[in-house]
Amino acid sequence: MSNTLEKETIPITNARYRLQYHLMPPVGWMNDPNGLIYYKGEYHAFYQHYPYGPWQGPMHWGHAKSKDLVHWEHLPIALTPSMPYDYAENTVYGCWSGSAVDDDGVLTLIYTGHVESNDPVEVQCIARSTDGIHFKKGAASIIAGPPDAECFGFRDPKVWKHGEVWHLVIGYGKDGKGKALHYTSSDLNEWTYEGIAAESDGTMGDMWECPDLFPLGGTPDSHVLLFSPMNIAPVKTLYLSGQFDYGSGKFSTQHKDRVDYGFDFYAPQTFEDASGRRILFGWMNIWGAEMPEKEDGWMGAFTLPRVLTLAEDGSLLANPAEELKALRGEHVNAANVLLKDGEEYSLAGAEGSALEIEAVFLADASSGAEFGLRVRCSDDGLQYTEISYKASEGVLRMNRDHAGAGEGGVNEASLVPMEDGRVKLRLFLDSSSVELFANDGRRTITNRIYPLESSLGLKLFSRNGNSVLESFNVWRI
Ligand code: FRU
Repeated sequence: MSNTLEKETIPITNARYRLQYHLMPPVGWMNDPNGLIYYKGEYHAFYQHYPYGPWQGPMHWGHAKSKDLVHWEHLPIALTPSMPYDYAENTVYGCWSGSAVDDDGVLTLIYTGHVESNDPVEVQCIARSTDGIHFKKGAASIIAGPPDAECFGFRDPKVWKHGEVWHLVIGYGKDGKGKALHYTSSDLNEWTYEGIAAESDGTMGDMWECPDLFPLGGTPDSHVLLFSPMNIAPVKTLYLSGQFDYGSGKFSTQHKDRVDYGFDFYAPQTFEDASGRRILFGWMNIWGAEMPEKEDGWMGAFTLPRVLTLAEDGSLLANPAEELKALRGEHVNAANVLLKDGEEYSLAGAEGSALEIEAVFLADASSGAEFGLRVRCSDDGLQYTEISYKASEGVLRMNRDHAGAGEGGVNEASLVPMEDGRVKLRLFLDSSSVELFANDGRRTITNRIYPLESSLGLKLFSRNGNSVLESFNVWRI
């Protein structure tokens, strides 16, 4: 087959928004994390990729690997559309999202082949590699189509092993309800449809993209199901925590919430590493957004790696991987600062476009005060992104209405102070991103922001009353 895909890549024309320590495509477009896996002593990350421009072209699988989750090496493109099940000229086609498993030393990718002329045809496909770099695709698809053709989507297989059996969940929608379908296999080639593992109760979207079902928590049946529900904006991702019964193939929900409360967080995927940690990466963008980096010839990034744990009440906690502390450079700190009503506080040396920040406040619900930080502030104070907390309301906010180019908007998430009455805000700033981890991972808010390169200021504030900043640490990255 002649390869009509070989085109010139588009150069990156301006580095202003290029991230300094997040994984991004070397060129072109990136969306979902795919095939995350710890394989033969290294972390491998694949991603939805169009190498020839910053738009959603025919999807390839980009590939990078890392020894430490922090420093990444780009590898050759792993999957290029080429087969009747993932390539068809003059249509929309590509190697869409999926996952990876280690099948007795063989790095195996299971993904959706998408071909769409009038109606989309989505089938599940397999590709294998023994060197972890070059992949050979199967001769035919391994799941030829959905159990019922009258559906809205059949894509994004996530595979895992339980005992001797391979399990797979896949995103699906029917009758206005998103669902995760469940399949099993003994060899990854032949799959048996087992039924619906979980579905929307009518409030959780009409198609579930990128479902991910995995064990987490104290008991063997304790599991979490993540998915990206379509058509229930502003909700981008949800999780259900509860029990998965391997006998009946049914998931029962105890607790439900959003995975992240930001604008730019979608299609997260998790994997387990050698130490048994459950690690998540999300796509740090959202469909339909303005994406100002497209002007510069590229688009897309991953979030930082986040380690997931389950709190006793079934809430999912997400904290930055410990390895990220290796990024910490020059450090400044302060303690017991009284933030006076209406005044701003800043600390010499605490400014920059790539920072880790940890600020611990005393939260006094009786005072009505609202405290927080402004990051990426311009010298004239007009440009900034604000993170704030009001204890009397129990609401955490991120406001990017004055953040620079791109869309504005305010995120809100409920948050109770920690048991000791404190609110801890941990932030990672990069050239065009901000990730907030509040109260040891109880809430995360992830946003892309596009400030001027000269907007580097960091300020703390209190309004409607005084507040106490108990400790403040800032590291340059
Ligand atoms: C989610 C998604 C997936 C699909 C992929 C295509 O962002 O729409 O459902 O497989 O992106 O790139």
